[in-house]
Amino acid sequence: MADKIGIGIIGCGAVGSAVVRILLEQGRSLTARTGLDLELRHVIVQDTHKERPVDIPKDILSNDPAQPLADPDTHIILELIGGVDTPMDLILEALRCGKDVVTANKALLALRGGPIFAAAREAGRCIAFEAAVGGGIPLIESVRRGLIANEIDAVYGILNGTCNYILTRMLESEVSYSDALAEAQQLGYAEADPTLDVDGTDSAHKLAILASIAMRKTCDYDRISVRGITDLEVTDLLAGDELGYVCKLLAIAQKHDNGLDLTVHPTFIRKSHPLASVAGPFNAVSVYGHAVGHTLFYGRGAGGMPTASAVIADVMEVATGNAARTFSQLTRLADRTDAATYRPSGENETAFYLRVGLEDRPGGMARIATVLGDHGISIASLVQHEPHQASGGDAVPVVVTTRESKDSTVQAAIKAMSELDAVIGQVICIPTLDEHVESSHA
Ligand code: HSE
Repeated sequence: MADKIGIGIIGCGAVGSAVVRILLEQGRSLTARTGLDLELRHVIVQDTHKERPVDIPKDILSNDPAQPLADPDTHIILELIGGVDTPMDLILEALRCGKDVVTANKALLALRGGPIFAAAREAGRCIAFEAAVGGGIPLIESVRRGLIANEIDAVYGILNGTCNYILTRMLESEVSYSDALAEAQQLGYAEADPTLDVDGTDSAHKLAILASIAMRKTCDYDRISVRGITDLEVTDLLAGDELGYVCKLLAIAQKHDNGLDLTVHPTFIRKSHPLASVAGPFNAVSVYGHAVGHTLFYGRGAGGMPTASAVIADVMEVATGNAARTFSQLTRLADRTDAATYRPSGENETAFYLRVGLEDRPGGMARIATVLGDHGISIASLVQHEPHQASGGDAVPVVVTTRESKDSTVQAAIKAMSELDAVIGQVICIPTLDEHVESSHA
């Protein structure tokens, strides 16, 4: 007879409901595949009367998280509530009660990973978190185990499905940012509070976790330079499209001789770039290892069922005992690695897309070019379309792309441009990026 493994789920939103659905509908088939009998013993929710997309048997539904923790036949706790303080307390208590833990909580692991992993080791238990980064893509396991032979020098990721969906919709249908966000929310891609998606925080949480594992250093969430997509305008996505670019919210970890750069920024990449065709709610991550070269992971990074796919994979890893073994041997987690060293800020060199609003009178264009030249910034292209009609005092948009320049130099040039009488409104600045070059794979 198969061994029984008791499961308690705490939190039953989109991901929790999908996990329940898979366990109830595919329990037999999972047993046939693994020889383990997963028994869903507790589902803990805030409101037991709320309608859910799955029928949860009444006898396992409750609003008391103490129940699964006190139950000796519950072996694995699935923390699926989100947030930081409440799940932190809950996980620490579950570990103290001798439970293993599966979590999809990227905010928690990015901000408190060190103490949580240390507590798990002290309790002789393990924590699995495949679903925290890249939703259904088996990314953590692949980087940790599949790429173990590699020195990884760069990770480039589209790590937020909501943002990628919004950017895709803004460009393909020329809808505003807020209309595209409303669509993403309707489709269930965004978090309950979409602020964390659209301001880049969610991507930064995921980058902190992924970069720490890839680079074998503790990458501090607070050292990530983060900019979200909330101020992007369709005008810029269309102007970029005309120049051969597509805009993505890229989460980047890149090793340099003088330290690591961690950024989450809207970035223009060429349409031929491997990440350019990643559309809608999909996520994709490029990992560059010295032996393997470029590897690309792609899949659904948001939504209940894709994320539940990764949660169930973790449950099976814990239930078979594999997770306990790898967790205790793993030296790559935040409680066992040295802190990363970072490249001084402002040293990042990249090319840029700039949009400047000019008064429609002689000399404005020349002044912009002079400011850029005075700052040692080389112009790669410069586009101004003939206005359809007399602009009547409206700003005429001028789009400039630059050659690679230091971030701090470009910011200084933008400040100088903004002070010109001829310039109307804010100067829009979006970095542009070529594909990362493989370090070596010979
Ligand atoms: N809300 C996230 C996203 C999914 O849009 O990618 C969960 O991490």
